[in-house]
Amino acid sequence: MGLSNQTILTFIIFGTIWFIILWTLFPPENYVKDDPLQLDISTVYDINGNPKDFINGRNYANYLSILRQQHHQMLSNLLNKADKALKNDSIYSVTLKPQLAPSNDPHDYMSLARYFWPDPTQPNGLPYMRRDGYTNPEIETVKDYSFLRKLFEDVENLGFAYYFTRNDSYVEKAVYRIKEWFVNPKTRMNPNLKYASFIKGQEFGRRTGVLDMRPVYRMLQSIPLMRSSYKWDHLAEEQLKNWISKYYKWLETTSLGIEEKEAKNNHGTYYDVQAIYLLSYLGREEAAIKYSRKALIHRVNTGILPTGQQPHETKRPTSWFYSVFNLQALFLLAERSQYYGFDGWNYVGPEGQSIKKAVDYLLPFALSNGKDWPFKNIDEFKINNFIKLLELAFVIWSDNKYLEAITILRPKALRFDNLEDDYICIWSLMTNRQLWTCLK
Ligand SMILES: *[C@@H]1O[C@H](CO)[C@@H](O)[C@H](O)[C@H]1NC(C)=O
Ligand SMILES: *[C@@H]1O[C@H](CO)[C@@H](O)[C@H](O)[C@H]1NC(C)=O
Repeated sequence: MGLSNQTILTFIIFGTIWFIILWTLFPPENYVKDDPLQLDISTVYDINGNPKDFINGRNYANYLSILRQQHHQMLSNLLNKADKALKNDSIYSVTLKPQLAPSNDPHDYMSLARYFWPDPTQPNGLPYMRRDGYTNPEIETVKDYSFLRKLFEDVENLGFAYYFTRNDSYVEKAVYRIKEWFVNPKTRMNPNLKYASFIKGQEFGRRTGVLDMRPVYRMLQSIPLMRSSYKWDHLAEEQLKNWISKYYKWLETTSLGIEEKEAKNNHGTYYDVQAIYLLSYLGREEAAIKYSRKALIHRVNTGILPTGQQPHETKRPTSWFYSVFNLQALFLLAERSQYYGFDGWNYVGPEGQSIKKAVDYLLPFALSNGKDWPFKNIDEFKINNFIKLLELAFVIWSDNKYLEAITILRPKALRFDNLEDDYICIWSLMTNRQLWTCLK
């Protein structure tokens, strides 16, 4: 004899009610109703499969709860920036500059070499000569560089804002900017950097100008987030892909690009970051995977000493700035390598070099405001960017010393520029998303 459906239903309902009553009267051991932080939180593993000490259990829950509190603030910062980008109606274009590149083609990008000044022994000052570490304010007269950065920043913010709000106006504006810079015959840029980091009085730019395109990853990582919008323009994206493809060809095949790739210092590291993102955007994933692993190993082996010092950066007059700057690029490389399945964060070179060692090398000097830093440094010991690296370092290696340092350094950072909270980047890292908003 089978039971009727109605009987079964009755059993289920009564069973559920009894279950709830029993659960409330006799909760399981580790379930305490008044303290949600005591909820069972599954163990978090590092990339080697070992449980993370600090980040498990209660501490992890506390940490998340702080992050949640920051969430609101972070989103409103982001939307603020995206709204500014949305409302900005001025033109971003290389064709606006008052002075053309030697080619006389208004579509050629040009930027002036940062550390070059008029030669006082020459009547017209030409060609300019190098004073490393001293920025010539004249570089501001040619705006291509700042437009390019603004473009990448705007598209990134608009894409992220769309991701969080699903408001299609952000996508519409991002598409507008992309077309303006890469597609429209009137305003577009030619796909090369022949005249980047140009020294007045010379014929061409320099290989170091390739660094100008460094933030391209900010635009490229936000584009996939916008494709689901009905305002996304697939034809324009084809044209952008075509541009990127030509540009990458230029990078790979001209002496400016090839020499920049061979640079031992931050220029080479950032070249690698750029190349990985470009390859990936072009759909050449296999090449990107190979490139990212090789680059990570090469840069750690050759750019970091067993002590953690970055010798190619410490020899610059602004040695602190460049040590942090190259470390940012190493973080970007490590993130990409991890994304592609290779644990670059914990890679150790043949002499014991590693990215963590490079962080630890800088840490005491950040805490002592540069006391006993054994290298020439004509700049201040600005710590904002380093603090951002420490926040990531804490998430990556769960070492309490980073958290302690952040607590000490954050209040000091206020002396410098605004230090935004990094909730989104930390969150994105923890959830393995591709949003990489942390490093400017
Ligand atoms: C728009 O962007 C341009 C280029 O960066 C900038 O010079 C200008 O001040 C911005 N305008 C507004 C209203 O924010
Ligand atoms: C999208 O964002 C803009 C700018 O913040 C706002 O004016 C508009 O009302 C929003 N649209 C929707 C549908 O929320």
